[in-house]
Amino acid sequence: MKEQLKNLQETATKIICSASSIDELEALRIQYLGKKGELTAILKQMGKLSAEERPQMGQLANQLRSSLEKLLEEKNEELSKALLEMKLQEESVDVTIPGKKVAIGHKHPMYNVLDQIKDIFIGMGFDILDDQEIEFSDYNFTKLNTPDGHPAREWSDTFYLTEDSSILLRTQTSNMQIRAMEEKELPIRILAPGRVYRKDEVDATHSPMFHQIEGMVIDKGVTMGDLKATLNLVVQQIYGEGTVTRFRPHHFPFTEPSCEMDIQCHKCGGKGCPTCKGEGWIEILGAGMVHPEVLKNGGIDPDVYSGWAFGMGLERLALGEYKINDLRLIFENDVRFLEQF
Ligand code: PHE
Repeated sequence: MKEQLKNLQETATKIICSASSIDELEALRIQYLGKKGELTAILKQMGKLSAEERPQMGQLANQLRSSLEKLLEEKNEELSKALLEMKLQEESVDVTIPGKKVAIGHKHPMYNVLDQIKDIFIGMGFDILDDQEIEFSDYNFTKLNTPDGHPAREWSDTFYLTEDSSILLRTQTSNMQIRAMEEKELPIRILAPGRVYRKDEVDATHSPMFHQIEGMVIDKGVTMGDLKATLNLVVQQIYGEGTVTRFRPHHFPFTEPSCEMDIQCHKCGGKGCPTCKGEGWIEILGAGMVHPEVLKNGGIDPDVYSGWAFGMGLERLALGEYKINDLRLIFENDVRFLEQF
């Protein structure tokens, strides 16, 4: 048995010293010192020894175990060090290689136009109102003097979110008129830009989602003259000093009287060209005096207060300003397109 232990000591020492990986070391540890390892196999024969030999052999076996353990540990440390060395060499950073460029985003051209308009209205003391895209039919229609059964409420035009058609994706930013009346102290001056939704097929001039900007003023003694003067001033700032405008009578359920505002084509000066489709005029917004019923629905006494409101499409404005001929380009978000503005 002494002989066996000595042999084991010699071969194990040799093989451990020549191990080349940590995995290999672990396999050797199991092979020699594990529960079913070679040392255990030798010790199983202890029963055959005499009473004097047993403690001697036990001591020898213990010495062997601890010397192999020590060796394994030293070898492990050596291999780990070498591995780290190698990794450090392989993964060293060459600080002279040019870095990867971070692509920085680009402001959307439509938001450039929106920011310009916001600035103009903020300059006149208007508050910007947060928008509400998911809305009760009450706010999008009923309180805006557009009762059940009105053609504007057709299922074929509106994205309803509930079977009973009480909740929808708003079809216009005019819902903010009522919300402002409920939330704001009088007098009210608000601008409320945001997304609106209608069941339209996508083409060069239509999209089921687009943007509107709503504006509204409510105070004592507000007249149609204030509406015209304010909108004229805004148009001069957007389209340039001297831009000619006209107001045409129109109908909206929530304003009375109602109108649409046109600007004389800035491309051809009113003679007619492709930009104005030969008309000489370009329609830019709908507006009017807030209907007394709508004021009442917003909790405001129409005998004391009056107001005006307008709503305009933001995409059309941006298309005109940047001479873009297809609405789809605005929503595709192709950076090669957006970077041009
Ligand atoms: N909401 C109307 C539309 O979508 C525009 C509008 C707003 C008209 C405010 C009058 C007053 O066409």
